[in-house]
Amino acid sequence: MDRMASLGQLAGGIAHELNNPLTGVLGQSQIMLEKLSPTDPLRETLGKITKAAERCRKITKGLLDFSRQKDYHFELTDITKIIDGALDICSSDIIASKITVIKNYGKNVPKTNVSVPHIQQVFLNIITNAIQTMKNGGGLTITTGCHAEQCHAELVSASQRRDPDFHQGDNFVVISFKDTGDGISKENLEKIFTPFFTTKDPGKGTGLGLAISYGIVQRHNGKIMVSSGGEKKGAMFTVKLPINQ
Ligand SMILES: Nc1ncnc2c1ncn2[C@@H]1O[C@H](COP(=O)(O)OP(=O)(O)OP(=O)(O)O)[C@@H](O)[C@H]1O
Ligand SMILES: [Mg+2]
Repeated sequence: MDRMASLGQLAGGIAHELNNPLTGVLGQSQIMLEKLSPTDPLRETLGKITKAAERCRKITKGLLDFSRQKDYHFELTDITKIIDGALDICSSDIIASKITVIKNYGKNVPKTNVSVPHIQQVFLNIITNAIQTMKNGGGLTITTGCHAEQCHAELVSASQRRDPDFHQGDNFVVISFKDTGDGISKENLEKIFTPFFTTKDPGKGTGLGLAISYGIVQRHNGKIMVSSGGEKKGAMFTVKLPINQ
């Protein structure tokens, strides 16, 4: 079995087991909070317990998302609408961090068969990372296009006729997100899609965003790749999604 798939299975199993006791901790804390008087000093302690349990819940939810293979409903969708939706969700952070978004959307990019909420989550994770690495401003260039000339339906069938080795899966919509942030060291590039790999401060990142994204893109028979010129040289994430599947 693929390494990521077995990791997903293990992670999902652990997350599932942890969810019930965590719900207990949160529920009991809530009951205690309701019983305490508004001035009771134990409120602060209980608040900390609740916050820690909520953080654990966020992690188990992330792990479940990473491992979950169901709830996928594929529909032919205009990818740029999903990107714009993700940008909308992040708009206040983009403005606050003084980030300029450059949209380089290709013409005639065909609709793609995707599970919309899942692909939106992938784009959100990538955009959120980009925002976090450009706290003091920068640029995010989003480019969409097709792989080679084969993206147009007529060309697809033409190339199928010409090339006996042609596979449907060779037709991809390609979406890239290029930022001007801190970049990624060569050493870290290899670890970036591994669950729990994070360089963020304790309590800030769980290191699951890209691992989850990897799982989702794989479920679409696509590819997610990263490149970076190195530290301080920005990073680029590229997602390739097959047009037909
Ligand atoms: N655009 C980027 N520029 C520089 N480093 C990045 C970028 N995107 C991801 N990284 C690096 O990859 C690590 C893993 O990213 P990932 O999204 O999986 O987790 P996270 O952002 O640390 O936490 P989470 O997404 O779970 O809140 C990050 O901690 C960061 O070191
Ligand atoms: Mg992240």
